[in-house]
Amino acid sequence: MPSVDNHYSQSLQADDILNRLATAYPEGPNTYQLAPIDQLHIGGIKASKKLSQRVADLNASTVLDVGSGLGGLLRVCQQQHNALYVSLDITHELSKINHQLNLLSKKNSMVITGNGQKLPFPDHSFDVIIMQHSLLNMPDKISTLKECKRVLSPNGHLILHEVLKGDNYQEMQYPVPWARHPELSHLISEEEITALINTTHMQIQSMEDWTEEALTWRARQTSKQETPQAPVVSPNMILGSEFAIMGKNVQRNLQCNAIRIVELVIC
Ligand SMILES: C[S@@+](CC[C@H](N)C(=O)[O-])C[C@H]1O[C@@H](n2cnc3c(N)ncnc32)[C@H](O)[C@@H]1O
Repeated sequence: MPSVDNHYSQSLQADDILNRLATAYPEGPNTYQLAPIDQLHIGGIKASKKLSQRVADLNASTVLDVGSGLGGLLRVCQQQHNALYVSLDITHELSKINHQLNLLSKKNSMVITGNGQKLPFPDHSFDVIIMQHSLLNMPDKISTLKECKRVLSPNGHLILHEVLKGDNYQEMQYPVPWARHPELSHLISEEEITALINTTHMQIQSMEDWTEEALTWRARQTSKQETPQAPVVSPNMILGSEFAIMGKNVQRNLQCNAIRIVELVIC
């Protein structure tokens, strides 16, 4: 059985990423220059800006990103709203780069390696928890949701930006960026996530479907990949040369409604 950690670290070119960024951007890279590697979700920096607006609207003082990857979301949030930000990810190699990217770009969120299914924090530690395309790798969703409820403050909010099963899920094609094989992909349907949230005695405050804009974004990424100009950093430096086919499969899976993209605000 492949592990999540191995999926994200097996092709990772950590030194190359950091050397190229330091050389190309001596004053420190900005969020757009980091986006090809630190926005590892469908929808890119635009989706992170929408989530960042939610965090600002909720006026959160403490924010946890579970499954933070290279930490792009919290660097976007920090530009908009002042709070204590904590990144947590199970893949230690990604957490190490996240920390280095914070130093390079002069941002200061705390970075921790840990498991979202068993959060290493006391009760009521955070006003907002965000999961951006990370619940999709977690088999034990009920533990994850219970843990989020436990570490959220009594009036806290959980924000999910996730991939759900679409009506034609049987058409799903692999590899995709979060799984080279079906064993690592743990997608559920809207009905299933709703039932799980109810089981944990939380409530869905809002649910938005972001599939259309995700498709537009994905089509733009595919056309960028086909231009000959080599970017300073690219998702291939994380997921290897297979990323090209992963991207095309995401587009196909969205087009045929095998998957859909949603944002849920839960309290
Ligand atoms: C598709 S990436 C998304 C990364 C980041 N949220 C983003 O949007 O750029 C999924 C991330 O979830 C992390 N992850 C998967 N299972 C996890 C778990 N049980 N606990 C914490 N992190 C996990 C992976 O290591 C990976 O960094």
